[in-house]
Amino acid sequence: ETPNNKDTPTIYVDVEPQAESEDYLDTISIQDWPSITLSTGLATPPPYVSPGPYHVEYPSEYIFILDEPEKCREQNPFLVLMVPVAPYNREARGAVRSTWGSERQVLGKEVRLFFLLGLPSGEETEQLQEKVLQESKEHQDLLQSDFIDSYKNLTIKTMVMMEWLSSCCPNASYVMKIDSDMFLNVHNLVYMLILHSPKENYMSGQVAIGAAVLHDPSSKWYLPKEVFPEPVYPPYALGLGYIFTLDLPRKLVEASRHVKAVYIEDVYLGLCMRHLGIRPTDPPSGNLFQGYAGAQDRCHYMAVITTMLDTPQQWCH
Ligand SMILES: *[C@@H]1O[C@H](CO)[C@@H](O)[C@H](O)[C@H]1NC(C)=O
Ligand SMILES: *[C@@H]1O[C@H](CO)[C@@H](O)[C@H](O)[C@H]1NC(C)=O
Repeated sequence: ETPNNKDTPTIYVDVEPQAESEDYLDTISIQDWPSITLSTGLATPPPYVSPGPYHVEYPSEYIFILDEPEKCREQNPFLVLMVPVAPYNREARGAVRSTWGSERQVLGKEVRLFFLLGLPSGEETEQLQEKVLQESKEHQDLLQSDFIDSYKNLTIKTMVMMEWLSSCCPNASYVMKIDSDMFLNVHNLVYMLILHSPKENYMSGQVAIGAAVLHDPSSKWYLPKEVFPEPVYPPYALGLGYIFTLDLPRKLVEASRHVKAVYIEDVYLGLCMRHLGIRPTDPPSGNLFQGYAGAQDRCHYMAVITTMLDTPQQWCH
């Protein structure tokens, strides 16, 4: 007899997230189940179940509390720049707006910029949210969704971005998702997209191939074997900056219904891409996308598309 037998009431077991082990589950035998029945027959929703430390709460019904629903649809940009940034980080947004994010037309193509935010948390959230609202009125480039903005929630941010793009940006050609502490050479990017880039099923950037899954608990990107047993990840574009065609957001959102969302956002997109059977590709020239560049002269920034910067000021001089 199983506990899911029709005559047995639904059993909800409120299991605390077990970060280190799932041993706790082993201690519950089937015979014990009836005695830990928590709710029977009442029309209560299932209790909240934490996704645990390695997964995030996605899919879920997140909504945008700050939105620019018509901007992309009406203006049909060629390229949309999407910059994830924490609500408090107004300085980074200002730096992007006044440098590489300032161009609206590049090589005759329309370019639009949006920042992606979640909800502030911690102290003084109300004051902070008030400032964010003001900034949104002033610049009309903020997209804020109602999940808690945190490092561990970046996958949620990327996926609500995909939802937004698929519903609000049907007619743009390309998207670049890029961190606010990167340098972006918009001119080179548009040039590359015009000359070389496929029109669909395309994602590119710095593509990690055969990257080892870090099964060592002390590593920053640790994923336990129970969560992801394979030794290497499928190819994925590093999260610092990647581009993709506008047909992908809808497909990735669909794939996300079948692939459990891990907290490492670029790896997660790689898993969804594998589900779709689409391989992220390298850009036409190997060093157009770069991570850490170290100290470089201006010529370096002319030749690349992205480079990591130490400070938001660095590219201004
Ligand atoms: C991630 O967002 C969800 C939804 O807002 C929230 O419940 C959860 O606490 C957040 N996680 C972290 C680590 O901030
Ligand atoms: C999409 O963009 C193309 C090219 O700019 C244009 O011809 C077409 O009318 C647009 N479609 C919509 C639905 O805006």
